[in-house]
Amino acid sequence: MRLDKFLSDMNLDSRSNLKKAIRKGNVTVDGQMVRDPGMAVLDGAKVAYYGKLVRYEAFQYYMLNKPAGVLSATSDRHQKTVMDLLPGERRTDLFPVGRLDKDTTGLLLITNDGDMAHRLLAPKSHVDKVYEALILGRVGSREIEAFQGGLIVDETFTAAPAGLEVISHPLSVDQTDRTLVRITIHEGKFHQIKRMFETVGMEVLTLKRLSMGSLILDPELPEGECRRLTEEELDTLENLIMKN
Ligand code: URA
Repeated sequence: MRLDKFLSDMNLDSRSNLKKAIRKGNVTVDGQMVRDPGMAVLDGAKVAYYGKLVRYEAFQYYMLNKPAGVLSATSDRHQKTVMDLLPGERRTDLFPVGRLDKDTTGLLLITNDGDMAHRLLAPKSHVDKVYEALILGRVGSREIEAFQGGLIVDETFTAAPAGLEVISHPLSVDQTDRTLVRITIHEGKFHQIKRMFETVGMEVLTLKRLSMGSLILDPELPEGECRRLTEEELDTLENLIMKN
């Protein structure tokens, strides 16, 4: 890997500033000053930036609390994407694991670990995704049973049995019935939860993802912000997908 890429993958500065720092002699490899940004860094080489050793991480993992109004995509010509919410200097191979609709909020994992993403998303892995939703209308046993039995959404999609739990019936100003529910699914079809509620004649007003497998949205993480996964979160997630 090129020296400038090695440093920029570690979010130290923009690629152009890193090139300048290298040319100015602020980077050493195995104790030797290197002025060529394109120099190939060999496995195990000790790279120091302004005298500080830089440890290379092949993979990075961020937990984002996605706000509404942002696309789950790596780039878009006109609209803000979840990648715009990551720290300024970030590696270019990161991507969101699965998609949340533009108006959906909550947990989104962003990584460059394609294998982990695949294992988390593959339906056969049966990784539970838990959502909280505010539904227009009164959700009751009819809907709970329908979700439990699996729903024929349309001719191309039958949703697998899903968990539906009523949390409360929040009062609305205009006295309309609303139900706060928790839904557990292990698939991730386009607009899945909204389409499942549509099938039982109800509308989703708000939708928020709370967890994905063992990864739980940090209640201290404000909407629109992200943080690195802790080692414990990562270990638990890795153990989970190894078992599936
Ligand atoms: N189901 C939906 O309908 N939308 C989402 O964003 C996620 C699950």
